Amino acid sequence: METRELLDPRVLFVTGKGGVGKSTVAAALALAAVRTGRRTCLVEVEGRQTMARVFGTEPWDFDEREIRPDLFGMSVDPEASLSEYLDMFYGARRISKLVVGSTAVEFATTAAPGIKDVLLIGKVKELERRREPDGRFAYDLIVVDAPPTGRIVNFLRAPDATTELVNVGPIRGQAQSLVDMLLDGARTHLQLVTLLEEMPVEETVDSAEALRELGVTVGPIIVNRALEPGLDEEARAALVDGLDNGEVVAAAGEAGVDLTEEDAERLLARGERHLHRLELEERMRERLRGAHTPVAELPFLASREFREPQVSALADRLVELTA
Ligand SMILES: Nc1ncnc2c1ncn2[C@@H]1O[C@H](COP(=O)(O)OP(=O)(O)OP(=O)(O)O)[C@@H](O)[C@H]1O
Ligand SMILES: [Mg+2]
Repeated sequence: METRELLDPRVLFVTGKGGVGKSTVAAALALAAVRTGRRTCLVEVEGRQTMARVFGTEPWDFDEREIRPDLFGMSVDPEASLSEYLDMFYGARRISKLVVGSTAVEFATTAAPGIKDVLLIGKVKELERRREPDGRFAYDLIVVDAPPTGRIVNFLRAPDATTELVNVGPIRGQAQSLVDMLLDGARTHLQLVTLLEEMPVEETVDSAEALRELGVTVGPIIVNRALEPGLDEEARAALVDGLDNGEVVAAAGEAGVDLTEEDAERLLARGERHLHRLELEERMRERLRGAHTPVAELPFLASREFREPQVSALADRLVELTA
């Protein structure tokens, strides 16, 4: 596995601990894919409308819409998937729309745990296999903003569990074909996102191993929000040695800046925090090497709003990494 293979499979399931930037990275990957000539579908699975906010569009739903040239967006929810599934097998969309209220979904979910995830992955597979009349695939890449890592192993085990549970009929055949897609490294990568912090890094290293044991291909790990080192060697050495306020006031004075002792103290505290953060990041990079997967880093962008321009800047970085 190499970082430039990031966009090579047909499906990317983007996951990671809560809040690390899964949705942001999924959107950036989708934009990067479009920029490298891929017709792309970005799929949101939890109905939280994160993508509609990022791209400033109408809420996304089960119908794919082209939100930018060659970039399609949709939101999958189990109810709509179940309805489509029933329609496919029983050709009764109208009836199924009526029958498939939340009780039906609840019932199906209780009867066969994991069926909800089977339906979600089923929809992803339908997008992945879909062809144009001329025989080409409808999409070159499908990027899924998947649930947090804690659920992802179960999510991936779901079709497998169903294969054991339901060993007859169309569901079995379908579940097996989902497992085939998930375990085929040429078709599917699990895309882990992390921050350079203890908990997410530990979880990432563990998940990478657990996923590989399941036979899943883990793509290059994406580190999000990596700090740009704002210290040169000299500044770093000075901080490590321990400057005192007086020295800072004197140095600033030489550079023509008037500082009070208090200013100097605040500056020093800030410098030290930055230094500790950089040291933590170094340790975390070292720890990530234990996952035996290349790492792609995306920078921390200081911005109050995180919308298309910010995501687009991250996409540029991803395009560079895959060049
Ligand atoms: N590279 C970055 N630089 C700075 N801030 C970022 C970066 N990436 C993400 N963020 C910030 O982190 C917030 C959370 O990101 P995002 O919604 O993508 O996380 P998530 O992992 O999908 O969260 P959840 O687990 O809730 O779905 C964003 O709204 C944004 O403010
Ligand atoms: Mg999210």
